[in-house]
Amino acid sequence: MNSQKKSHDSSSPPRKVMHIVGARPNFMKVAPLMREMSRYPQKFDQLLLHTGQHYDDEMSKCFFNDLRLTEPDIYLGVGSGTHAEQTGKIMIEFEKVCFKEKPDLIIVVGDINSTVACALVATKLCIPVAHVEAGLRSFDRTMPEEINRILTDQISDYLFTACEDANQNLIKEGIPKSKIFFVGNAMIDSLLNHMKTANNSIILEKLGLRKNNNIKKYAVVTLHRPSNVDNKKILKGILNALNELAKEIPVIFPAHPRTIKQIKNFKLQEMVNYEENLLSNELNKTNQNMQAIIPLGYLDFLCLISNAAIVLTDSGGIQEETTILGIACLTLRNNTERPITIKEGTNVLVGNDPDKIMNIATSVLKNQNLRKKIPKYWDGKAAKRIIKILINK
Ligand code: UD1
Repeated sequence: MNSQKKSHDSSSPPRKVMHIVGARPNFMKVAPLMREMSRYPQKFDQLLLHTGQHYDDEMSKCFFNDLRLTEPDIYLGVGSGTHAEQTGKIMIEFEKVCFKEKPDLIIVVGDINSTVACALVATKLCIPVAHVEAGLRSFDRTMPEEINRILTDQISDYLFTACEDANQNLIKEGIPKSKIFFVGNAMIDSLLNHMKTANNSIILEKLGLRKNNNIKKYAVVTLHRPSNVDNKKILKGILNALNELAKEIPVIFPAHPRTIKQIKNFKLQEMVNYEENLLSNELNKTNQNMQAIIPLGYLDFLCLISNAAIVLTDSGGIQEETTILGIACLTLRNNTERPITIKEGTNVLVGNDPDKIMNIATSVLKNQNLRKKIPKYWDGKAAKRIIKILINK
């Protein structure tokens, strides 16, 4: 193993770069990086490692197809577990891979357990770590992702940020400026690359939302944060508000497997009209205005949110996607690590109080005068900037 972190000499052989993915929101961040890096075979020899944190086809495989990502070179197959079990399993398996493959650089993205687990293993083996989407902070340490973000940033060598507030957060935490690179938003690279193809999706027809080129006014909901779905009272309250909203417009709810599990545990299936094995192409047979469906692939989901009247979510990435698309976003959380989506984009924090959700949703639907400023460097060129920096390091 490398005894020291070394800088790259342009005459040396291609550097072995290992990209790490584990869960759904990672795939759209890694796809543009791999595509851009593949333009420089003399500089980089790329490997893709999937930890297997997400393993269902709808949470993983279909994203590889939609994003035209190559099959992972290495699959750890760690699956689900408690935080310690999942993080520990990833670390043990990833260390073996590092011993065998001896990568010169690993690239981690986002803030999931796979991100921090692999960063920690690599840095202890003196393998340089690049973190894409560094510096985001919700300042809420009850959120597992916040712990993952803080730790990953502290031990990474290259911190690639998507917004000015992220740069400031890192500086306040004592990260040297020389490690911070403001490059823009790699996830938005994917959105802009795939929007045209997403427009060809027939998901709106399948859901009965478009007929003869007329699109109904509808809402899209996603929920998966433990703070929203692991407590029966909170989850029931949110579903009550969504049922109220469904009296006005159809509410489509592509539900995360964790959320479905909790809905079943709490016996709330009737509130979302959930039917086991409901396939998306059978949906237009249902006449429900509030409809939970299986998670959608990347292109279908982009098509669905880009035509929605309103999106209600507790996801991080969707706050950014709706900002770019100019679609109203209500974030069902009390804080966000992405404040730029509120300041410059279309995002509003509403928390999880049912009355507040319903009141704000109603007023947003009436008044669609949204600000549509595009944050700096959310321009489809983040991957280009990142790879240019890595070539010169
Ligand atoms: C993880 C990330 C979160 C990210 C989210 C996107 C962490 C701490 N959390 O949360 O930041 O926003 O992914 O989806 O890393 N499950 C399945 N099939 C799967 C994956 C999960 O059934 O393919 C179920 C299992 O019951 C599992 C639960 O979902 O226990 C939670 O999965 P996990 O990967 O632990 O966290 P997410 O909630 O998906």
